[in-house]
Amino acid sequence: MSKKIFSGVQPSGNLHLGNYLGAIKNFVNLQKEKENNCIYCVVDLHAVTVKQNPEILKRNIRETTAVFLASGIDPTKSIIFNQSMVPSHSEGAWLLGCVARMGWLNRMTQFKEKAGKDKEKASVGLYIYPILMAADILLYDSTHVPVGEDQKQHLELTRDIANKFNLDFKCENFLTVPEPLIQKNFSRIMSLKDGTKKMSKSDLSDQSRINLTDDKDQIINKIRKAKTDSDPLPHDDENLNKRSELKNLFGIFSSINDQSLDTTINEFKGKNFSEFKNKLAETLIEKINPISIEINKLLKDKEYIDKILKNGSSQAEEIAKRKVEDIKKIIGF
Ligand code: AMP
Ligand code: TRP
Repeated sequence: MSKKIFSGVQPSGNLHLGNYLGAIKNFVNLQKEKENNCIYCVVDLHAVTVKQNPEILKRNIRETTAVFLASGIDPTKSIIFNQSMVPSHSEGAWLLGCVARMGWLNRMTQFKEKAGKDKEKASVGLYIYPILMAADILLYDSTHVPVGEDQKQHLELTRDIANKFNLDFKCENFLTVPEPLIQKNFSRIMSLKDGTKKMSKSDLSDQSRINLTDDKDQIINKIRKAKTDSDPLPHDDENLNKRSELKNLFGIFSSINDQSLDTTINEFKGKNFSEFKNKLAETLIEKINPISIEINKLLKDKEYIDKILKNGSSQAEEIAKRKVEDIKKIIGF
């Protein structure tokens, strides 16, 4: 059966290994299946839920597009576009916002994390952000949404909104209820400094993540300094849950090599830490460095990137506009 794939990445800079292994690598694999229709969006309207510098935002939109392209998303096979160029997303978000319930949004853990202690000072946009995400997905009749583990709750909200709309307006199956596609293993890549914290764009320490734009020396240095414990490398996964930093590094090695955790454990049992770290850095350089070289090359040709976004956005608008028109008819406009 042909799948309609949709996903989005925020242009908030510092795209990292977690974004790649948790989401973007999967985007590329899904595109390889010929029957899939894939749409990948640079979700800049989501990025402005927190304060952005206009010049840096503009640069990050291009950089995120370059990451898509450099990772292997092919604009002749998939639609690559920019959310703010497609006004239907904002209109759809308003219409769906009248279906979503406050109680549902109040349960969103990402809002609680991002708003922090002073909720009163968070933007309204940050609070209603999951509704915009639902519009992104539902306007394209998306059947599958590849995301990292942290977006699971937002996907459930999207499903609730679709179901409620279909029920309230007695239009069964009008909005497609999408399935999340979350990697079974290694779906959460953790910080290199603290194995209990997610690898994140917004971590103040650059040492906590491998950026997709890092060069060889930066990768070697970050892996060398990555936090570990002083016990020997394990013979099985028995105590690995208690050794979160090592588990994360083993997870990264396994994920980037498309192999199981057990294979990695067997490969390194009895060896010393430096041997493992050297091999990990070497593998990361082999896989990430070609992407970073390509990103830097693409960023020199701003016109090319802008053209990709413009073409993709007009294709996306064609689809999204029709769905918004249908939604409006159903509502009674
Ligand atoms: P964001 O950067 O928040 O727009 O995330 C883009 C995609 O990367 C989403 O699908 C996230 O779930 C995924 N992602 C972000 N951080 C991580 C991480 N540390 N591990 C795995 N996936 C992640
Ligand atoms: N909220 C997602 C994130 O922070 C990004 C996103 C926006 C998205 N719209 C989407 C992901 C639609 C998948 C589908 O990572």
